[in-house]
Amino acid sequence: MKVLMLNGSPKADGNTNRALTEIGEQLKKESIDYEIFQIGGQAIRDCIGCGQCTEKGCVFDDDVTNAFIAKAQEADGFIFGTPVYYAHPSGRIQSLLDRAFYAGGTAFAFKPGAAVAVARRAGTTASVDVLEKYFGINNMPTVPSTYWNVAHGRVPGEAGQDLEGMQTMRNLARNMAWMLKCIEAGRKAGIDHPEVEKSARTNFIR
Ligand SMILES: Cc1cc2nc3c(=O)[nH]c(=O)nc-3n(C[C@H](O)[C@H](O)[C@H](O)COP(=O)(O)O)c2cc1C
Repeated sequence: MKVLMLNGSPKADGNTNRALTEIGEQLKKESIDYEIFQIGGQAIRDCIGCGQCTEKGCVFDDDVTNAFIAKAQEADGFIFGTPVYYAHPSGRIQSLLDRAFYAGGTAFAFKPGAAVAVARRAGTTASVDVLEKYFGINNMPTVPSTYWNVAHGRVPGEAGQDLEGMQTMRNLARNMAWMLKCIEAGRKAGIDHPEVEKSARTNFIR
């Protein structure tokens, strides 16, 4: 089983990566593989709402979004990690996830997910809330920990000194491993995810 993580920071070795690595190393101890997908520093296109993705996938193929969707199809669980920018997730992770979920939501559905935010000081829980929205609309069980999934640090690597933050990450990893193993055991026992009703879209109340 494999967990795909997304580092929403342009810094591959920054604090978000530090938090994700803490999760990954604990996952390994639980016999779960992991990969950290680096969003990098190049431009990430925003969704333009063209709607063509429902048939053809996302029309834009000049950034890493489609590669992320392809990897998501093979993954069993997800961690989305972001630095806090002005009390919200980085613009790049939001742009990527808007497109990844609109164009490739089935790659994520019924797989557990967790959101992680790192900051110098404030805006962490608001950022976690934003990223958890992708799970709630897409049939994804949300993985808990012993605190909200946040860590503090400013200069790259500093988050490693946040002992409570790192403990929260390890406990999150344990819970992710537990949920993945439960889902797998259920599948082997003949219990798969439920059927989904055909979409009824009441855009406004008449
Ligand atoms: C544009 C920008 C906005 C930021 N806004 C906040 C903020 O609202 N609250 C905060 O505590 N830290 C803020 N920070 C600091 C980063 O969240 C912090 O340095 C974090 O550890 C960076 O993670 P990274 O190393 O993974 O990029 C901001 C940093 C930048 C570049």
